[in-house]
Amino acid sequence: MEGEIAVSISLSKQTHTHTPKEVNPFEEKSHYSKKRAIMPFGLVSAWNKRRRSKSQDHTDPWLYRPVEYWKLEDRTPQRPKRHRVSSVYTLKEMEEATCSFSDENFLGKGGFGRVYKGTLRSGEVVAIKKMELPPFKAAEGEHEFRVEVDILSRLDHPNLVSLIGYCADGKHRFLVYEYMQRGNLQDHLNGIGEAKMDWTSRLKVALGAAKGLTYLHSSSAVGIPIVHRDFKSTNVLLGANFEAKISDFGLAKLMPEGQETYVTARVLGTFGYFDPEYTSTGKLTLQSDVYAFGVVLLELLTGRRAVDLNLGPNDQNLVLQVRHILNDRKKLRKVIDPELSRSSYTMESIGMFANLASRCVRTESSERPSMAECVRELQLIIYTNSKGLSMPMHALRMV
Ligand SMILES: Nc1ncnc2c1ncn2[C@@H]1O[C@H](COP(=O)(O)OP(=O)(O)OP(=O)(O)O)[C@@H](O)[C@H]1O
Ligand SMILES: [Mg+2]
Repeated sequence: MEGEIAVSISLSKQTHTHTPKEVNPFEEKSHYSKKRAIMPFGLVSAWNKRRRSKSQDHTDPWLYRPVEYWKLEDRTPQRPKRHRVSSVYTLKEMEEATCSFSDENFLGKGGFGRVYKGTLRSGEVVAIKKMELPPFKAAEGEHEFRVEVDILSRLDHPNLVSLIGYCADGKHRFLVYEYMQRGNLQDHLNGIGEAKMDWTSRLKVALGAAKGLTYLHSSSAVGIPIVHRDFKSTNVLLGANFEAKISDFGLAKLMPEGQETYVTARVLGTFGYFDPEYTSTGKLTLQSDVYAFGVVLLELLTGRRAVDLNLGPNDQNLVLQVRHILNDRKKLRKVIDPELSRSSYTMESIGMFANLASRCVRTESSERPSMAECVRELQLIIYTNSKGLSMPMHALRMV
């Protein structure tokens, strides 16, 4: 469509800049025949050849040009592409992009369905989330789908995974996201066998995620605050340089205007990250995300999972396991991730980080800090850590 518009504009520009005398094809034809009539035969073919090559001349407005040609002509400076308006794809395009959802392109599976790496016709590499829900859950899934498309397409922040487009072809539903090279945070902390993240990278991830949540919670996103509702370490995705972006707004609900809470009949989210106040009252607040954020801070600190079913019943829940020692420097040492390189952290920054986490996971939601406060504290923690390690100032600017 865009291409068609570009063509008609370019063509109309061209036709208006030439007078009928200059471009009239009939006049041109009679002029050429007269010239040829008085030419010796040997010269005719050479002249014809030159004329043919002239007709290939790119300035000839009467030549048919494919759409791509006119697009190339447009040299007006392009603004960097922001995926503000979602693209719509067909099922065929989704199949093509993922080699028919081949195993090689499989990235992972969540509550929503399978996720595949894909390459669009434009060459852009993306993550394609394929909705696979049992029929009895289909209505809920479709609702989630629409909520996600609607909200995400209006959000734009460096710490949120952008939604590039979607496919709603027959019964098939897909979401097309920007591809995050290093996958999810949980895999880097206690999953795949790669070298574990150092403390500086973990602080950078915590700050990025905090900024993303602050943006959602502020009214600047879509005019009213948004609660994520399913913030967790698998929904924090990492770019090539460990830049953190938050994904999955399928469970997010727009907060009704002028109200701080939203009462819901169903408790949605993930075990291990539930705000205790939300589970007992069903009252959803922005502070529910702060609780889940606190759990992710604890995962970053300890390298443990929010819920580890391999442990005994009393040790499964990370918050219950470590909450009481977070402000005790001596005991705190015992829960620091043993995989963490000792040269990358100072105990002072660890203490400040643990203290912030302990306040985020308080049972009373009113006692938890806001996400904006978390951002400010994390910036201070990063500064304290790098100062303690005598890092050069330019390294600080990178976070
Ligand atoms: N945009 C993306 N770029 C790269 N990998 C992704 C992307 N989105 C998802 N993934 C990968 O696919 C996996 C599955 O994602 P998905 O969101 O479906 O599941 P989840 O986050 O584990 O659970 P939930 O459905 O509750 O969000 C992720 O853990 C991640 O590793
Ligand atoms: Mg997810």
